[in-house]
Amino acid sequence: MQDPITNAKRAAGEKAASFIRPGMIVGLGTGSTAYWAIQKIGALVKDGLDIQAIATSEASAALARELKIPLTTFAETQRLDIDIDGADEVSENLDVIKGGGGALLREKIVAYHSKQLIIIADEHKYVPTLGRFPLAVEVIPFGWEATGSKLQSLGCRPLLRAKGEEIFITDNGNYIIDCSFGTIKEPQLINDALHNIPGVVETGLFVQMADKVVLGYEDGTTEVRE
Ligand code: A5P
Repeated sequence: MQDPITNAKRAAGEKAASFIRPGMIVGLGTGSTAYWAIQKIGALVKDGLDIQAIATSEASAALARELKIPLTTFAETQRLDIDIDGADEVSENLDVIKGGGGALLREKIVAYHSKQLIIIADEHKYVPTLGRFPLAVEVIPFGWEATGSKLQSLGCRPLLRAKGEEIFITDNGNYIIDCSFGTIKEPQLINDALHNIPGVVETGLFVQMADKVVLGYEDGTTEVRE
């Protein structure tokens, strides 16, 4: 039997896959909730659904290949119809924190170019105000110590992400600094301020980008917010 959180993630992922139509170019998100959407998309493709997909991480691309979901690239098309991706936090007005899995840069590029962004999350990710979850900021390795000090001056506690004893390296060869803000009352202002710091490549703040949020509940039901 699946644990309740997995139930919730699976319900959200599968519901989001039901918005896909034949012929669409689909963004494949990253993480344990996106996993369920990709599984469902794989099953639909096996049943004859004709789509192509662009993955937001090497891990999701590998899963798509395993499931025989046809992959394409931005070199072949710049049209994305729908992007389905997870979240670490979703606020009441549908602002989102992403990047817990470290794929935020490709996730944001794919989301930005997609006609529709559907965020999928279990019910526990839904919060009144963003910021309890540390905000992932992808930075260039050169000068990361100085970049980190500047991040701190914006009012957060920065921590270089590690993987075991090693520094965590993103799919793009960069570092991640996780910034604990506590609360983020004005996400757009924080996002702009972060982008003004040289060395910052991207942030995990997805401000007013989501068209729909599909929340999955532990009992297997879902709710769509837009
Ligand atoms: C990957 O970098 C992230 O943005 C994920 O989409 C996010 O962390 C949600 O992951 P889970 O679905 O595993 O919680």
